Amino acid sequence: EQIERGRFEHFMLKEIFEQPESIRGTMRGRVQPATGTVLLGGLRERLDDLVRSNRLIFVGCGTSYHAALACRQLVEQLTELPVSVELSSDFLDRACPLFRSDVCVFVSQSGETADTLEALRYAKRRHALTVGVVNVVGSAIARITDCGVHLNAGCEIGVASTKSYTSQIVAIIMIALLLSADRLSKQTRRREIIDGLAALPTAIERVLMLNDKLRMLAVGVLRDAVSILVCGRGYQYATCLEAALKIKEVSYIHTEGIHAGELKHGPLALIDQEMPMIVFATRDNGYEAICNAVHQLLARGNPQRMIVVCSEGDGHFFQGLGVGTTLEVPHTADCLQGVVNIVPMQLIAYHLAVARGLNVDQPRNLAKSVTVQ
Ligand code: G6P
Repeated sequence: EQIERGRFEHFMLKEIFEQPESIRGTMRGRVQPATGTVLLGGLRERLDDLVRSNRLIFVGCGTSYHAALACRQLVEQLTELPVSVELSSDFLDRACPLFRSDVCVFVSQSGETADTLEALRYAKRRHALTVGVVNVVGSAIARITDCGVHLNAGCEIGVASTKSYTSQIVAIIMIALLLSADRLSKQTRRREIIDGLAALPTAIERVLMLNDKLRMLAVGVLRDAVSILVCGRGYQYATCLEAALKIKEVSYIHTEGIHAGELKHGPLALIDQEMPMIVFATRDNGYEAICNAVHQLLARGNPQRMIVVCSEGDGHFFQGLGVGTTLEVPHTADCLQGVVNIVPMQLIAYHLAVARGLNVDQPRNLAKSVTVQ
């Protein structure tokens, strides 16, 4: 085991640091910046059916669900189809109505999660076209789906999923790029994203350099928190949910991911001088709105306990408002920003778990693959 972990003390840390390479693995031979094209061999035979579909439904659990949520806006924008994102268990509970013209995309690292597998069987009985976005080759979901895309992210051992999340986002974005390849009106946007994908591994390498600062932050500001609030909107809403999940899974600190638009509808009542607040305020169309949320939180909470993740060059602005800690991250296309922004949160979750003396790679009560319903 120690040999597999190499220079890292835990698999979770190793897998976080592998992300520049795992993302390259997901894109290898598929994203071609020179020609602006995306090739996905696993979808080739069903491409006509995929392009002709009327609706896309993404289905998954946990981190895999969050990855689909992170891509919804982009998939809607590029395909101009209605897109929904479903928790596997809820999809089954509701016996979600399905049509032959629907495409159901099953997102799963292991390819064995019982609820997702059962949802896949349900979709097959209703004759929807089924697509797998799976890491483990030969797994049940990979075998049963009509077609699919493997993540090629390499083996993930830590129970808390890290590199699979970023690779799942990249894989779903590649699917959206493929489905919109023939749309003339989308070419400028597609070009921006393809260039962004090519630069993504380097952007992650730069975020990983924040590791020491993040360890100090975890130990200094967050370790003894009773509860942490993570706030964002737009593309960063999914990042909030995933950041909160990572922190609670491995550090056992109650953490809530909140859409900034919902702050006034309840969560503001939680804010006091003790509560750490993490806000994603990287530049995109929602920047002005998220700055308003920062003001609302600063007015009610403890500015020293606020952490703002912002675009490079914006740190001074937030410090000027009184924000205790700013984390500057490289700017990328809006739909890819979540891939960059989640990395510091994975590291914070990791360092919190270590600082609290917990079993990082195998948190209590959790399993890597949940094979019972
Ligand atoms: C478990 C794992 C999570 C994972 C979820 C879905 O809860 O602990 O990390 O996100 O299952 O697993 P899957 O293999 O379907 O992505």
